[in-house]
This record gives sequence, structure tokens and C-alpha cells, in this order.
Amino acid sequence: MQQPSVVAHRGASTDRPEHTIGAYELALKEGADGLECDIRLSRDGEIVCVHDRTLTRTSNGRGTVSALSLEELQKFDYGSWHRHGQPAELLVLDQLLELVKSTNVQLFVETKHPVRYRNEIERKLVEALKRHELDKQIVMMSFSPTAVKVFREMAPDIRTVLLLDRLARYRSGALPSFADYTGPGVHVLRNDPDYVDRARRAGHETYVWTVDSPEDVALCRDLGVRYVATNAPANTRRLLTANLAT
Ligand code: G3P
Ligand code: CA
Repeated sequence: MQQPSVVAHRGASTDRPEHTIGAYELALKEGADGLECDIRLSRDGEIVCVHDRTLTRTSNGRGTVSALSLEELQKFDYGSWHRHGQPAELLVLDQLLELVKSTNVQLFVETKHPVRYRNEIERKLVEALKRHELDKQIVMMSFSPTAVKVFREMAPDIRTVLLLDRLARYRSGALPSFADYTGPGVHVLRNDPDYVDRARRAGHETYVWTVDSPEDVALCRDLGVRYVATNAPANTRRLLTANLAT
């Protein structure tokens, strides 16, 4: 069985502040096969890489991302909060796309919802990918089925993941036609490991988040998961390789 590809979740975010260029550069250095990022729109419509709705957890700023202009967002430090952190600039998606273009890794871009500007984020993402002439290296993801559907209509050639916090109506393994991969949290597989097989039989490979512990890495490897998103790419790779030897 093929080993899962290792996707660096928010960059190498155990060892560097998430969504900083340093976190992504370290992930590449550690040999990640893919990178994951979350995107939001600033008040003036720029795509920025920030996970939370607000700035509190990952910067020295305050306020809601969508209520501030790019210039206002850029005034804050996005690195010093982290235990291995140093001052770091806000990461805009354009910078990350430039980095990805210089490599052969895949970039898994997650649009966050619900948001003030609804599906404007998917429209802007499609524009950015066209501007950078990137499609083969990109996978779009969201927990919002509407977001994935809207994106697929605008960019039919780009692969998509429907992220799932619980299986609910997707328990059978089948997904709507706009989703290529299924994206359960690892907690879903701990409770229902057979789901990977059901999804595969319905034609969908699996992307699993967030896979850091030795037990979770072994579970995903044994189930034949296609992609594991991890905060610690080098360690996860090491665990996968060690597992192969057992
Ligand atoms: O990779 C998908 C995963 O990142 C979804 O959860 O909250 O970390 O964005 P979250
Ligand atoms: Ca994410």
C-alpha cells in the first residue's frame, strides 16, 4: 500500500509560528510533500493567511481580520507569540503561491466560513490562481459544501476536498460531485476506521487532519489514507518510515 503524502498543516507549525513564511520554508526543508493554509479576506479584499476570525491568538494585534485593511493588518507581529517565535510579518497568499511555484509540492488552500464576504473569497482565490498560472499544484478545501461547489463551478480543473468534522449525511462514503477527496478529522477515523474504505469504494481518496501522534500516524498508514496533514512534518515522516519497517 502507498505511504500517505505528508502535508504540513499551517506550515511546520509545531516548530514555527503557523502561517508565517518561516513555517512553510521549514516544512519544505523537512521534505513535506504538501503545504496547508487557511485564507481570509481583509476589508479591502486582499487574501491573507490567517486561521482564526480574529487576530488575538496569532499576533500582537486585536480585532477581526475582515474588518481591517491589509495595511492595518500588516502593522502587527505574527511570530513572537509562538514558543519558538521571532517577529514575523503577515503572510499574504501571493507570497505563498510564489514559494509554491518554485517547488513541486502541492498547496492545500482552505477557505474559512462563515465569513462576512461569503463566497467572495473563492472568487478571489480563483483570480489569484489564474494570475500565478497555478492549478496542478493546488487543492481547494472547505468545511462549507457551498464554498466547494462554488469554487468547482469557477475552476472545474482544480481538485477539491470536502472537509468533515463529523460524517453525518456523508457516512456512506459518497460525496457530492463537486468534491474529489474526503477530508475527515482523525477523530472521525478513530471512531469509524472503515470509513476510509467506504469512501474509496465510492471513488474518493482521503485527506486526514491533524495527524501528529504515533498512534494516529499508524492508523492512517494502515488504513491507506492518501494525505495526512501534520503540524510536525519531519516527525510524521519519520513515524511513517518507521511504521513501514514494522
Ligand atoms: O486541514 C484541514 C484542517 O486544517 C481543518 O481544521 O481548524 O485546523 O483549519 P482547522
Ligand atoms: Ca485549515
